Amino acid sequence: MTTDSIQPLSIAAPVNPRKAFRGALLDFVDDPFYVSEAESVRYIPDGLLVLKDGRIEALGHYEDLKDVYADVAIVAYPGMVLTPGLIDTHIHFPQTEMIAAYGEQLLEWLSKYTFPTERKFQSKDYAQQVAAIFLDELLRNGTTTALVFATVFPESVDAFFEEAERRNLRMIAGKVMMDRNAPDFLKDTAQSAYQASKQLIETWHGRGRLLYAVTPRFAPTSTDEQLRLAGRLLEEYPDVYLHTHLSENVNEVAWVKELFPQCQGYLDAYDRAGLVKNRSVFAHGVQLTDEEFQRLSAAEAAIAFCPTSNLFLGSGLFRLEKAKSTEFPVKLGLGTDVGAGTSFSILQTANEAYKVAQLRHQRLSPFQALFLATLGGARALNLEDKIGNFEPGKEADFIVLNPRATPLLAFRNSEALPTSLVELADRIFSLVIMGDDRAVQATYIMGELAYEKQ
Ligand code: GUN
Ligand code: ZN
Repeated sequence: MTTDSIQPLSIAAPVNPRKAFRGALLDFVDDPFYVSEAESVRYIPDGLLVLKDGRIEALGHYEDLKDVYADVAIVAYPGMVLTPGLIDTHIHFPQTEMIAAYGEQLLEWLSKYTFPTERKFQSKDYAQQVAAIFLDELLRNGTTTALVFATVFPESVDAFFEEAERRNLRMIAGKVMMDRNAPDFLKDTAQSAYQASKQLIETWHGRGRLLYAVTPRFAPTSTDEQLRLAGRLLEEYPDVYLHTHLSENVNEVAWVKELFPQCQGYLDAYDRAGLVKNRSVFAHGVQLTDEEFQRLSAAEAAIAFCPTSNLFLGSGLFRLEKAKSTEFPVKLGLGTDVGAGTSFSILQTANEAYKVAQLRHQRLSPFQALFLATLGGARALNLEDKIGNFEPGKEADFIVLNPRATPLLAFRNSEALPTSLVELADRIFSLVIMGDDRAVQATYIMGELAYEKQ
């Protein structure tokens, strides 16, 4: 007997590198503020989402695709809705611990609660602990991308990006720039803010999925010189973002008029420094004039609509119809603005957006709300080529929503998932109004399970 004929018992079959998810698929291919729901909503009641290497490879009806992908392992979510990861276009990670701080409006709230809290973030260890809690909370709420304020301390930016990198998240963040009208312990200078921001851009911008935003806190806490140097950074690094606050509160707007007497208005203080651009994201805009909306539209800049914050701080009611006008459309996303915002949930943020619209006798439809939370947010952040819907090639950040997540939702939504858009709108509306972290069954990042509800 020779040993020549000895063969391995089995030869491993090549493993299919794909994975697939079966459930109701819901995303947007266009903007339901401007085209019909039939043209903007993509809904596949029994769909299959196929991924390869963390990206979307295909989507379609399960019956049509099941034979094509017969050798791919399928994770099934019967009765659940798979939708792109939610996008928060304005939030402060260091304010996680001071959510629900009682009794003040913007300027007093900043001095009394915010500045003392942000002081703690000069400790990198502390910043790291809070960044971890913050990112876990985002994932629990189905938020997969956010535009994030850190603090004036560069260490807090490093801590945030390190934690985001560990989780492979697509995140945008930046160091706060603040060289006046703030306590000494939080102040930088025009020059030191420029240098530190430059260093952070060099380290973090475009590293993996991370991106940098030049982040002057708001016009009252930056000198002309600091704003000018922020503008210089945007010139030197044309694909970084500009992230700041704008026209949130009546007293704030009056203060900006005093501080910048040569300017036409609040937005003009940023505009003269070269900060109103295609990659600029302005939080709030509650007090904007019609002319300022037009300028934002022309510049292709974006607004983060932060309804829970605007109501909590008594700032006012955002003019949604101005931002979404056909004549002067402005890119718009939803922002939680935690810690002035009262929830990490973009579903709850959409709930309050609906009520803000109601108070102004306007309507925000369920699909419009979900659009702002997904593809609209991606467009506001100039990330629509990477995230925001299920187009093949995009990064597979998605969530699984359970329309029966609570006893009351289960009673409200006792029937099977609908096949028509009209019935679906009602089901989605119930999730927008009643849903929060409890409705998020699972969150996937680049196709990997990052959070699952127990
Ligand atoms: N304006 C300047 N700073 C802040 C902040 O931290 N939160 C809010 N909501 N508005 C601001
Ligand atoms: Zn804010």
